[in-house]
Amino acid sequence: MRIDIITVLPELLRSPFEASILKRAQDKGLVEVHLHNLRDYSKGKYNQVDDYQYGGGAGMVMMIEPIDKCITQLRKAREYDEIIYLTPDGVTLNQHIANELSLKGNIIMLCGHYKGVDQRVRNLFVTREISIGDYVLSGGELAAAVLSDSIIRLLPGVLNDETSALSDSFQDNLLAPEVYTRPAEYKGLKVPDILLSGDFPKIEQWRHQNSIDRTKSRRPDLLDKK
Ligand code: 6GU
Repeated sequence: MRIDIITVLPELLRSPFEASILKRAQDKGLVEVHLHNLRDYSKGKYNQVDDYQYGGGAGMVMMIEPIDKCITQLRKAREYDEIIYLTPDGVTLNQHIANELSLKGNIIMLCGHYKGVDQRVRNLFVTREISIGDYVLSGGELAAAVLSDSIIRLLPGVLNDETSALSDSFQDNLLAPEVYTRPAEYKGLKVPDILLSGDFPKIEQWRHQNSIDRTKSRRPDLLDKK
């Protein structure tokens, strides 16, 4: 998989890809992530990428020309399966969307800023618009990092234990069960006996029931989707 991220703030996006699982995935050659500074595609001595909106009103709008130049250059080199615009008015990201995107080859992510991009960018290039939740961020960069992480961890070979993505919360619309590690007792607080029993079929049963109970109390909306 290859992810190209178009941004006015590449420095904001570097560190999430330089640590832990996302770094290891790149080192193993399972994903390539390329950051593109939109200002490199702008013109004039001010490297302008945004301008006042037609019709008036506060806030700048990202111009079509630099975005067109950047996307056109990327598309000359390869075909893209998706051009995703990160925006608070997009479809809310969930595990199903992450699963779907993890099957793609080449993806462009475009990070919105200010009042967003000129509508013609959305009409002309964008295949999907994604939000990461009902709150407003200063820009699409952190959302692109979240989306990338949710996708990359699903690529075969990225996680050591291949089953561990399957047992994540949400993968089957259930929250993950409680987990415990040593010591078996801490300041009088005990680990549930069943987990120490060595009876693995019983433990699996307990975990499944614990998932259901936790989902009922915390996220009953997920059970309606099952
Ligand atoms: Cl994708 N962008 C911004 N600016 N804010 C958000 C978001 C995206 N998703 C949730 N809030």
